[in-house]
Amino acid sequence: MREPEELLRKYGPWALVTGAAQGIGAEFAEQIGAAGLNLVLVDIDADRLREVCHSLRERYPVEIRPIVLDLRREDLLDSLLPEVEGLEVGLLVNNAGIAKVGPFLPQERGFLLDQLHVNTRAVLLLTHAFGSEMKTRGRGGILVVSSGAAWVGSALNANYAASKAWDLIFAESLWAELGEFGIDVLGFMPTSTDTATLWRHTPNAPKASVMSVEATVRSALHALGRQPSWFAGRLNRIAFRVLRSVLPRSLLIRFVSRSLRGMSNRPATSSDER
Ligand SMILES: NC(=O)c1ccc[n+]([C@@H]2O[C@H](COP(=O)([O-])OP(=O)(O)OC[C@H]3O[C@@H](n4cnc5c(N)ncnc54)[C@H](OP(=O)(O)O)[C@@H]3O)[C@@H](O)[C@H]2O)c1
Repeated sequence: MREPEELLRKYGPWALVTGAAQGIGAEFAEQIGAAGLNLVLVDIDADRLREVCHSLRERYPVEIRPIVLDLRREDLLDSLLPEVEGLEVGLLVNNAGIAKVGPFLPQERGFLLDQLHVNTRAVLLLTHAFGSEMKTRGRGGILVVSSGAAWVGSALNANYAASKAWDLIFAESLWAELGEFGIDVLGFMPTSTDTATLWRHTPNAPKASVMSVEATVRSALHALGRQPSWFAGRLNRIAFRVLRSVLPRSLLIRFVSRSLRGMSNRPATSSDER
């Protein structure tokens, strides 16, 4: 558990969280706000974002600036940066992501590109913009929310898993590069976490293995500044390490594919068994 004062001292006074209107992002806002950092909260969903801000304002004496913005926008930085001009953003949480479980070929190309734009392009642009300011100040923290899916390919998850692998390698690389400027970077891999999006895509996820948003976010904030990347959940870490070390890559991919078919209510196929 990280002391809230440490979060404020290392990364204050402002944090920017994307995808903050619900799920893991709303919990990042909760825990970072509780630590005393002012919040810039970005999301596409205006109503939910308003509710989150209202609830936080009632409980924490911090400044909160909601920004309703579509992270897919071509002019993303031109739209966002004027809204945060003059704010010292010392903590960037690239949380927003688009998940979808389903076969690759029937998906619309437009959707697949949207997924890449939110999961990777927006992360790239925000990290470049805010990272440059952090470098000038000689301090800061950048958290990139990847996924356990980044570790291995899987049927029904091609674009998402690949985008999350990009997130992970991007963050680990910047961890190695930006540390000398006083900037902590973390590639964070949640596994199944109790959000509406999780249950929409994987209704059969085994409940015992699903983490609360509270535990997932606590784990991320604890690992920032201590690791280049971090997998949420001790048992998950052990299970993935064991599976990776005992199974050949092809079997591992089939194993994960079969699990995902089961969790998303789709029948196994012959390619899972080969
Ligand atoms: N939950 C899990 O089990 C799990 C596991 C591994 C990794 N993750 C990762 O953790 C992060 C958060 O997951 P979550 O389950 O909390 O997601 P979530 O509940 O779907 O919340 C994501 C938020 O981001 C917003 N968003 C989506 N597209 C956007 C856009 N173009 N511009 C601005 N905001 C946008 C969503 O708004 P709308 O809903 O209105 O689109 C939503 O409010 C994601 O990166 C996800 O990939 C989650």
